[in-house]
Amino acid sequence: MPRPDELVFPSRRERYEDRRTERQPKKVLDEFFDHRTLLTVARLVSQGQFETLDFPISTGKEGGVFRASGPGGFRAVKVYRMSNSVFKRLPAHALEALRREASDRNRARLIYAWTRREHSILRRLREAGVEVPEPYGYLRNALVMELVGEEGVPSPRLQDHDPEDPEAFYAALVEDLRRMVGQARLVHGDLSPYNVLVREDRPVLIDVAQSIETEHPQAPELLRRDVTNFARHLRRLGVDTDAERFLEAVGPVAPPAEVV
Ligand SMILES: Nc1ncnc2c1ncn2[C@@H]1O[C@H](COP(=O)(O)OP(=O)(O)OP(=O)(O)O)[C@@H](O)[C@H]1O
Ligand SMILES: [Mg+2]
Repeated sequence: MPRPDELVFPSRRERYEDRRTERQPKKVLDEFFDHRTLLTVARLVSQGQFETLDFPISTGKEGGVFRASGPGGFRAVKVYRMSNSVFKRLPAHALEALRREASDRNRARLIYAWTRREHSILRRLREAGVEVPEPYGYLRNALVMELVGEEGVPSPRLQDHDPEDPEAFYAALVEDLRRMVGQARLVHGDLSPYNVLVREDRPVLIDVAQSIETEHPQAPELLRRDVTNFARHLRRLGVDTDAERFLEAVGPVAPPAEVV
């Protein structure tokens, strides 16, 4: 078993050498992988989740997403930072959901609860047939999931990549949101071209932890906001839709009252 610090960005030659250099893995290593997080990675390795973290796909204020390799292929690992005040930017509804799950206000526990929440929401969405990465497991502040990509190359975000067939992309997105709202009974709450990946010209939704139950009083308003922002991007791509039509296509947040 290698030392924990040999599990993250091991210096072996691989196809992404350039990219790894470009993204300054050393800096990322220092910022994300405090001792406890390294041990978490080591534990996931010993559980057989993956063998190494290869390079950062994305690093942000709250967390980083890394490509992982293992005997069974590639995975994505999302690591929430323990060092920043992660949840300052959270909207009230998300924080409220989180507080319910965490047993106290201890920051580490909040982060762990958030990670667990992302895992369980991904599972719930998969069960409803929504295109999201398959969740494989989590431990503390690390979530292991399917790598959305092709042959180990992560798929681009809709923000950076226009689908070739925008109408078909839109239709698939509507279908995903219908299932999300109608079957999984969740509203994403942060839907944007940054949180939709394009794989084989079809959408894959990510970043679902802030999703809320359709029963939540703010759910209809959040869905409206989600589709309103998104409709603008779709129109730019040439899709003939607007917020109202998009919302209608997705269907109601709550089932209509039964008519007797
Ligand atoms: N399962 C995945 N497969 C491939 N790429 C992924 C996966 N999950 C996330 N990514 C990439 O990592 C980026 C950040 O992921 P995500 O949106 O879940 O985190 P975030 O909390 O919004 O992070 P940030 O604060 O950096 O925006 C995504 O834009 C996407 O490019
Ligand atoms: Mg995101």
